[in-house]
Amino acid sequence: MTEIISNLDVADLSLTELDADSLIGEHNPPLLTPHINEAVGSTLNQHKLQTSDFDVNWEDRLTDALLDDLTNNGWIIIDDVFNKKALLALQAESGFIDYRDAALTAGIHVSDIRGDKIRWITQNFFAGFYYLQSINALATVFNRSLFAGVRHSEAHYAWYPVGFGYQWHSDNPAGRNERVISAVFYLNDEWATEDGGALEVIDNNGNHHNVMPVANRLIVFDSNLQHQVQIAHRQRYSIATWMRRDGLVPFVEDT
Ligand code: OGA
Ligand code: MN
Repeated sequence: MTEIISNLDVADLSLTELDADSLIGEHNPPLLTPHINEAVGSTLNQHKLQTSDFDVNWEDRLTDALLDDLTNNGWIIIDDVFNKKALLALQAESGFIDYRDAALTAGIHVSDIRGDKIRWITQNFFAGFYYLQSINALATVFNRSLFAGVRHSEAHYAWYPVGFGYQWHSDNPAGRNERVISAVFYLNDEWATEDGGALEVIDNNGNHHNVMPVANRLIVFDSNLQHQVQIAHRQRYSIATWMRRDGLVPFVEDT
């Protein structure tokens, strides 16, 4: 691991030269030591990464037709979400994270059903935190146009090592209903069908859909829909996001 760290000349990273391939998916497992965290952070700061880089005109992107689809079918896809700078910053950040095992859910050892490693986004993140702010703006559109009743959003970076997926589930485990809308943002350049890792969703009408986890794509769906992540044959990076009906809850960092 130390070798990997010393091979990275993080000080030279420049968002104009950033080659996402060299930053994600190459090191196994991905790392984000405090040292690297600072270096990536100051690089992003040097490039004055700011909230406005993550501005999306959600009002325009969410056409009436798309909102109707979400209501009727329970899911929609929005492609080409962010500009290049924002996307590269998210991809870069995702490649340096010290991912951790997900916590227990309802007493079930989650590794039995899910193989991803995660890290919840807090203010300690750079790009991820701007991402979350943009998602909050998206939620206000859902509140206005669909009366979704979202009061806050949460998100974690996720990394699926080769050979892992996430079995059938809904994002509201038994007896829970805090999650209203789920959204997953993908970070993988040039993802091909042979790479597996599709998100398979069963829509409101019982139809199955396979969604490829391609970079700059956001899938938005009703948190109660059943879905699974098929086994990935390549390392798979994403940000899983939930818009919730409850207010802010005290944050526990180490899950
Ligand atoms: C999840 C999930 C889907 C995906 O994290 O709950 O369903 O495509 N993720 O990564
Ligand atoms: Mn899910």
